[in-house]
Amino acid sequence: MLLSKGYLEVDIDPALDLVKEINYLKKEKRAVILAHYYQNPDIQDIADYIGDSLGLAQQAEKTEADIILFAGVHFMAETAKILNPTKKVLIPDLKAGCSLADSCPPQKFSDFKAQHPNHIVLTYINCTADIKALSDVIVTSTNAVKIVQSFPKDQAIIFAPDKNLGAYINKKTGRNMILWDGACMVHEIFSLEKLIKLKAQHSKALVLAHPECEAHILEYAHFIGSTTAILNYSKKSDAQEFIVLTETGIIHQMQKASPSKTFIPAPPNNNCACNDCPHMKLNTLEKIYLALKYEQPELLMSNELIEKSKAPINKMLELSAKFGL
Ligand code: 13P
Ligand code: SF4
Repeated sequence: MLLSKGYLEVDIDPALDLVKEINYLKKEKRAVILAHYYQNPDIQDIADYIGDSLGLAQQAEKTEADIILFAGVHFMAETAKILNPTKKVLIPDLKAGCSLADSCPPQKFSDFKAQHPNHIVLTYINCTADIKALSDVIVTSTNAVKIVQSFPKDQAIIFAPDKNLGAYINKKTGRNMILWDGACMVHEIFSLEKLIKLKAQHSKALVLAHPECEAHILEYAHFIGSTTAILNYSKKSDAQEFIVLTETGIIHQMQKASPSKTFIPAPPNNNCACNDCPHMKLNTLEKIYLALKYEQPELLMSNELIEKSKAPINKMLELSAKFGL
């Protein structure tokens, strides 16, 4: 058994029914599978809970399972461990990272923070535990606007690591938060030119966008929100066609909820038709099966880091509960 590539390398009998085996292992080991909407459809279909970053954190905190298998990326599994440290947290591929989290190295962020005394630090959940430990409150795309608005208008704020989400919140709230210069590789490569063409071809389609997209793209959106908010909007809307400006994985749930509606993934500025997150898409059913069977790779963290990064996440969960989110 090797973990050198970040996941277990064990030959699997091609005749094995992976879905059946995963369901059996889940029961036998009292494990729960939490999956983000950006996972491949086959993974979403075996998950016990599928959600956005806030929903996944809330589920991780309250689960009574012995094992949490996190089908998402590293910072999400870390958040689950921080919130429920006595559980064993498995991640199918340890190399499933995040370009946005990587854009904010702890030492540089610590220096940035020191340059802005008297500022509180609000941080998007898409960051490492080291960055969370340097923050006052964590936010997600679901609660960010409400959490920012809960502070007095004259409160000086640093927002990290996503400059696009930060700019969107500044616009929505009229604040002037100082933004860390980070971005998500998936949401930054949508092509404005192709979007305009697509809109012309589908004149009745509504454009739904995630706030990690750049401002010039968000200008064309009929609705901006987290993955869960985009999904809910598409369910309730009377429109029949939607152009979706976020990672394509979400379309699986949108299509399941509204089979007669048409969902068009907005194209990136390269030769691909869809916009997949290369980190999220490292997870596979095979890796999930092996992770559950051998209980490896396990996400491990020091107690010190868990303690330091817990307070700002708990603050977010408290505020979210207060806002009914
Ligand atoms: P949400 O699902 O919380 O909107 O976050 C999107 C994302 O980029 C996760 O990596
Ligand atoms: Fe990170 Fe962007 Fe992938 Fe989300 S979609 S995990 S923010 S790189």
